[in-house]
Amino acid sequence: MTLKTIQGGLFIVVDGPDGSGKTTQAELIRDYISKKGYKVIQTIEPGSPHCPECIEIRKWLQDPSIPKTHFQELEKYLLDRSIHTKEFMEPKLEEDNIIICGRWVHATEVYQGYAGTIDISYIQQENRKITKKIMPRLKLSIFYDVSYETAMKRIRGERENLSWMEQKGKRFFKKVEEGYRFLYENQKPPKRIYLIDGEPPAEKVWEKTRSLLEEKLKIS
Ligand SMILES: Nc1ncnc2c1ncn2[C@@H]1O[C@H](COP(=O)(O)OP(=O)(O)OP(=O)(O)O)[C@@H](O)[C@H]1O
Ligand SMILES: [Mg+2]
Repeated sequence: MTLKTIQGGLFIVVDGPDGSGKTTQAELIRDYISKKGYKVIQTIEPGSPHCPECIEIRKWLQDPSIPKTHFQELEKYLLDRSIHTKEFMEPKLEEDNIIICGRWVHATEVYQGYAGTIDISYIQQENRKITKKIMPRLKLSIFYDVSYETAMKRIRGERENLSWMEQKGKRFFKKVEEGYRFLYENQKPPKRIYLIDGEPPAEKVWEKTRSLLEEKLKIS
């Protein structure tokens, strides 16, 4: 069977705080698009499984024994993004694939900028430089919104060691949650960011996600 394609491909981003259900929904989106007969690939930032160098960067970022300044950390996120963009996203879009990416430019703007210590407009400017070729192919960026309490319950259930992010605690998480809402509310046209309540059971969140895809993707 020949797979269907969309010329120039397109990509969909799932984003939101830790434990908001991004991976769960990304897999459902991938299966939905794949069942419709389209070429589809799933990836993440940072640390795409499709780029060995990115996997190394993710290890560095997540290693608590390596001291790092906020700026050094930001530089690695941006390096990860440029490698992922050049070596994976750009060629795959040229081959007309639909890409689903877990976290993207907005995550860096929220975590390192809005909730972090670095000027958000500087991060936006760097993100624009890296992604200018592929930005027009972004179809939807779906932010899943959950409370700190819900996210912690989910994450505690599955991880032995909470990541550095969770250890930063409730205040930081609230700022992250607020940062995603800020980007959603302040987006400039064309509207590509959508906010979905991530609190209900996964099937309910999927119903909302699926209707958004049906409305915006118009693939049959
Ligand atoms: N809507 C939901 N209701 C209850 N549990 C959920 C829901 N969505 C996901 N989960 C569960 O919560 C946990 C975290 O979900 P998931 O890995 O999809 O989140 P994530 O946003 O990708 O997290 P991370 O930031 O760690 O990558 C998983 O065990 C998953 O099965
Ligand atoms: Mg995930």
